[in-house]
This record gives sequence, structure tokens and C-alpha cells, in this order.
Amino acid sequence: TIANLKGLKQGQLRLGVITTAKYIIPRLLGPFCQLYPGIDISLQVTNHELILDRMMNNLDDLYIMSQIPDHFDVNFEPFLENPLVVFAPANHPLKKEKNIPIERLGEEPFIMREPGSGTRSAVQSLLEEHGIKVKVKLELGSNEAIKQAIAGGLGISVLSRHTMLSDAAEFSILDVQHFPIKRNWYIIHPAGKQLSIIAYTYYEYLLDAAKKITQQGGLILDHNFMNTNS
Ligand code: PGA
Repeated sequence: TIANLKGLKQGQLRLGVITTAKYIIPRLLGPFCQLYPGIDISLQVTNHELILDRMMNNLDDLYIMSQIPDHFDVNFEPFLENPLVVFAPANHPLKKEKNIPIERLGEEPFIMREPGSGTRSAVQSLLEEHGIKVKVKLELGSNEAIKQAIAGGLGISVLSRHTMLSDAAEFSILDVQHFPIKRNWYIIHPAGKQLSIIAYTYYEYLLDAAKKITQQGGLILDHNFMNTNS
């Protein structure tokens, strides 16, 4: 029976996720741990490059990343959309403008993620593609710190839409040409590595959760959404 199977699921689940996924993965772990109280979890949250290092060193069972590694044989499955949008303070003068030319970004003080960040490289490729240079006023290794800097009036930035939660009133999302940058999160694991039963169970659980979140518009808005629907 299912109850017996649940009893068998004892052990550790090791996850490595990029920083933008920290807005969703911990929330999804709550209901999962209630289903499988015998599973202990280690969750490492860091940027794209450091997640790649963890993968090379075989430190985790499953990874969540926005960019599939080039030089490493992996299995991957799209998980949820992870659009990158232009964040500005709530009262920014451009907030009501439509279709702002991307060149306009060059005139605003810009806050950039640190080297090694996948968000940073996605922003840089888009800017390079259009020959635009931004004035980087501040470089910061944390989405949260960037949000505080934006709210404090230091500049604008490009961040995952998922980083905006109950604090949405503090920000505006500017309607700039070529944005959002469309990206996905993927669930990834090294191709040569057999998933443990626990990792496989979590993998299936994540895909199921992604379906429910997509049905609700793609963002976690309701704190208890996994419990209310099932
Ligand atoms: P980052 O991850 O923390 O490396 O910017 C986000 C991403 O790659 O989407």
C-alpha cells in the first residue's frame, strides 16, 4: 500500500539550486516533508557557476538551474518558467511608459549580479546583442540585496520575476523592449548517475507541483497552495 511505501522512504535528499529557485523550492519542501517524514534534506542555494562546481564534484542528487550545462552529460526536464524582468522602484518615472526602447537602460544607474551568476550572463548577452552598455553603479551577489538597493533608490536591475513576492508594492516592472528575457528552470541530474528512490520521488513531486503552479499562473502567490489543492 501507499502507506507502506511511504514508510520505506527514509534517508537523505541532497539538492543544489540556483539563487532564483530559493523563492520556490523551500516552500515546496514543506508539503513534501509532511508526506515523507523519514526524509532529511540538504538544500544548497548558490549561483550558476557554483552549482556547476557542485555537479562536477557529484555533491547533490538533483539540481535546479536555468541553463543546461554545455560540457557535462545531463538529463534535464523543464520545471517552471523563470522570466527575467526590469525591476525599478515603485515610483520610477518610466513606470507608466509602454514599450520603452532598450537603449534607455543605458541612462539609468544599473545594479548587476556578481560574475558567475546566470542572471548576470543572461542580461549581459541581451545587452551585447543590442550593443548597449549600462552604467553599473553597484555589483551585488544577492537578489535580496539588489531588491533592497532598488527600493532604496540606487538604481534599476534585471531579476527573476519570482524574486518578487509579498513585497510587490515596493517595485514596478518596466515595460522595456525585448523583456522579459524568457528562461526556464530545469531539474537536472548527471546522466550517468542513477537516481535514488528518494530523489526520484522528489523529482516526480516537483513536476506535479509545477503543473499546479502553472495552472495558477506560474507564480507562487498563495502560501498554502500545495495543501489547498490536494
Ligand atoms: P543565478 O541563477 O543565481 O546564477 O543568477 C539564476 C539563473 O541562472 O536563472
